[in-house]
Amino acid sequence: MSEIDALLQENRKFAPSREFRREALVSDDSLYKSAAADPEAFWEKQAGELQWFEKWKSVCDWKAPHVKWFEGGTLNASVNCLDRHVTGARRNKAALIWEGEPGDRRTLTYWDLYVETQKFANALTKLGVKRGDRVAIYMPMIPETAIAMLACARIGAIHSVVFGGFSPESLRDRIEDAKAKVLITADGGYRRGTIVPLKRNADKALEGCPSIEHVVVVQRRPAAGGDEAFAEMRAGRDHWWHDVIRNEPAKCEPAKMKAEDVLYILYTSGTTGKPKGIVHTTGGYLTGAAATTKLVFDLKEDDVFWCTADVGWVTGHSYLVYGPLANGATCVMYEGAPDWPEKDRFWSICERYGVTILYTAPTAIRAFMKWGDQWPAKHDLSQLRLLGSVGEPINPEAWIWYQQKIGGGRCPIVDTWWQTETGAIVISPLPGVTETKPGSATMPLPGFSAALLDANAKEIKVGGGLLALTRPWPSIARTIWGDDARYVQTYFSKWPNRPDLYFPGDGAKRDEDGYYWILGRVDDVLNVAGHRIGTMEVESALVEHPAVAEAAVVGKSHELKGQALAAFVTLREGFQHSSDLRDELRDFVGEKIGAIAKPDDILFSADLPKTRSGKIMRRLLRDIAEGRAMGDTSTLADPNVVAALKEQYEGKE
Ligand code: WTA
Repeated sequence: MSEIDALLQENRKFAPSREFRREALVSDDSLYKSAAADPEAFWEKQAGELQWFEKWKSVCDWKAPHVKWFEGGTLNASVNCLDRHVTGARRNKAALIWEGEPGDRRTLTYWDLYVETQKFANALTKLGVKRGDRVAIYMPMIPETAIAMLACARIGAIHSVVFGGFSPESLRDRIEDAKAKVLITADGGYRRGTIVPLKRNADKALEGCPSIEHVVVVQRRPAAGGDEAFAEMRAGRDHWWHDVIRNEPAKCEPAKMKAEDVLYILYTSGTTGKPKGIVHTTGGYLTGAAATTKLVFDLKEDDVFWCTADVGWVTGHSYLVYGPLANGATCVMYEGAPDWPEKDRFWSICERYGVTILYTAPTAIRAFMKWGDQWPAKHDLSQLRLLGSVGEPINPEAWIWYQQKIGGGRCPIVDTWWQTETGAIVISPLPGVTETKPGSATMPLPGFSAALLDANAKEIKVGGGLLALTRPWPSIARTIWGDDARYVQTYFSKWPNRPDLYFPGDGAKRDEDGYYWILGRVDDVLNVAGHRIGTMEVESALVEHPAVAEAAVVGKSHELKGQALAAFVTLREGFQHSSDLRDELRDFVGEKIGAIAKPDDILFSADLPKTRSGKIMRRLLRDIAEGRAMGDTSTLADPNVVAALKEQYEGKE
């Protein structure tokens, strides 16, 4: 594989500078050693950094594949993120520094966030939300999104945040699966100067959601006089956020949650059409998110932390809301696009607020590279001291550019590997300790353990294989909402003789120094611009279109997005292919799932390459989409099909 070869040639190394190391929270490898010797003691110590109502009785109860952490302990996530900061010196510290895309700004101190959260928690209670109920959140990136999450946590309700870029149908599926009782949304959000009509989308979704009793709507557009066109309020069901909190007291007793009680559900793509509701707990999840925020980002009292991820993804949950707030950090939150109104928006934000830690995605970094060095060069980025990357493998070229042009050659880079299911970063450098290699997420953090295995669970010390996590950690997802069998099947069945091994679905390489180089998914899940998309989901959407008989969707590499989607489509009798139909199908997928899932290429074909038993040979379609020489075609039922497809693909418009 050329990918592996390219990575093998990457032998630059960057040790932490003496200056960084001198100030770092962790500056030698003793933590790795002590955590390896007794991982439970390590995690117990991390849990002890949180505030508990009652201490746990047992640390870890591991009956593979299910695990429980900190049983007997009770706590509340919002108390950990808010209450414990307002009694001391952090009371007036900025918790959230927010900038809207049009340029509006708000700063909420810990006290503000504490007050607003409790008011909204009381409002939710009035709307009938009780402990254990599900609340769907479909919002733009505004402070109320974080407040809504924390308010749910306050009263023990389970939040399910649905990314604001998802379509009404995707929202409906998620609401239905979780049987959410209340939906929190906004009239709209700004993206590239236009308004994403969230409430209108929500209304469409709610046509098929009998479980929803109330909808709370944030007025994001008061400047425009609360343009009713963006939010038709249905009497009895819909309520403005500002109305429901108006008379609520700023005090709401926190629910005493058991460590294993569910904090939230977050849907993510799998290999089948139906998204999986990943379930995270209160005690274990918060321990993992808080500990890794502190250790990986070397977080100190006066840092200004900016995680650019949307709250709709797990990165936003763990490193924009729960991890940083549990640590009492100052967080930056930005609503809009990185190139609005100009391509230096990120750098103007870094400069204005003195961002010290920036955590973003390779797809963004590659776009910045393409836009040119002049954009960051216009701004003073000297406050930055640490850079992070997440979501997909970062190519060494982008890594070096990030280090030089954004980090001024002085900031360590933490390339962090993890997933929705792990809840927290698993493989990453510790910036004051680890010598980094561009393109490698390096090694598991203290408290985590990984291995590279072959199909028979035999360990591969040096070379390529399947990534496995070999010991449970506190923030591992406990189940898939309503489908534990699928949980066991997806994550703990890769090696039948080893039901204790967690399989994340990624392939990786391990080098002589024990460094991991993540190669990407080995299943039918794609990583488009850092977002997980199941090819099956897109295929199911395509075949719902009346013109489509059959569809196969594969990934192809893409300069900016990492991966892009290519769809091969056969039409039903009586339909003609045309560029209009192609556009229509792309839009159709956009409506069904969301714009991120629109295929870059759609190729119409009379037939798809199949084995004699009728299985579509996606491997060959990938070869075609990538413009590669075709692999073994001997098992094909009709070898002529691929030759014709290849010719057609290469000549496509
Ligand atoms: C990929 C995002 C390489 C990987 C936090 C994983 C990465 C999937 C990295 C999870 C990284 C994430 N290097 N690949 N640093 N980080 N991935 O659930 O394939 O949206 O399985 O969580 O993204 O995506 P998810």
